[in-house]
Amino acid sequence: MFLRNCWYAAAASHELGAGLLARTLLDEPVVLYRKKDGTPVALEDRCSHRFYPLSAGELKDEKIVCGYHGMEFDCSGACVRVPGQKNVPKGADIKAYPIAEKWLFVWLWMGDPALADESLIPEIWRNKHPEWEVVCGDCIPMKGNYRLVADNLLDPSHVSFLHKSTLGTSDVADIPQETEQFGRNVRVTRWILDRTAAPVYARLGGFTTNVDRWQIITFTPPALVEVDMGSCIAGTGAPQGDRSQGIELHAFNLVTPCSENTAYYFWTHVRNFALGDAEISKTVRQQFLTAFAEDVMAIEGVQAGMERFPGKRMVNISADGGGIRARRILDEMIAEEKAGGKVAAA
Ligand code: FES
Ligand SMILES: [Fe+2]
Repeated sequence: MFLRNCWYAAAASHELGAGLLARTLLDEPVVLYRKKDGTPVALEDRCSHRFYPLSAGELKDEKIVCGYHGMEFDCSGACVRVPGQKNVPKGADIKAYPIAEKWLFVWLWMGDPALADESLIPEIWRNKHPEWEVVCGDCIPMKGNYRLVADNLLDPSHVSFLHKSTLGTSDVADIPQETEQFGRNVRVTRWILDRTAAPVYARLGGFTTNVDRWQIITFTPPALVEVDMGSCIAGTGAPQGDRSQGIELHAFNLVTPCSENTAYYFWTHVRNFALGDAEISKTVRQQFLTAFAEDVMAIEGVQAGMERFPGKRMVNISADGGGIRARRILDEMIAEEKAGGKVAAA
């Protein structure tokens, strides 16, 4: 079951170029493209004639020409030409989805089009801001339910085990994390005060003294998880909000359900240091992709386990606090939407 009246990332902006892009969101096949002025378009990926996927056709003057018998559809989904006849039969139009482009992503509204409101797109402003350098990933398809990603990210204690070879540091898992809920957001916070800097921070931030280090992870429904992390010189006020004496990174993770058991994962990584440094950006991308490949392996392993043992109940531990709250919030929102059919505000 999915929340429908909300925006989901369908593509990173850079992925949508001159051609047709096929994606499946919430079990619905969609074809995306750009008009000549760059405006994105999303249509149902189904020719109304014999249901041949339109994504297998071609673009001609901002219209899709079906690759089977050549029927043409414009960017509103209207069928505008049927080869060999003058009239377009009734019912030949297909669905167009509300679409928007913001913060380096192309967003689709899969629910009631009358409720689509661009102000509900999450404010990922750091993705486009002169004081922040951004690294934007390609879509990563995974064989796992989309909620498993929030589970994974809201419990950073897995870093010590799953990412032993990449990010893992043994000191982190032993320091307790705090979980809080505000409105429909969940936040997990961990401060590691007055310790030597982790190697990666020591290198990037040039620290020679002890640091105060943080991991602050915030879930916004349906599927955005922001990981705010960084280090400042110990005792310079970072826990109170002064981050001027250090470095800061944010990972924005967006998950979009394809089906019940599959999802797309999108990400950006932004930093407030080494602006314009292509070498650092390359390292960030490599490290992130290596670590995330480990997460995908775990998520797909969990999904396979759930399918293999359908009658068994999972055991929860205290580190699951954030993930459990996120699930509960999403369940409430889905129930509310089913009951009233309106936008359940995040
Ligand atoms: S299936 Fe598209 S025109 Fe026939
Ligand atoms: Fe991870």
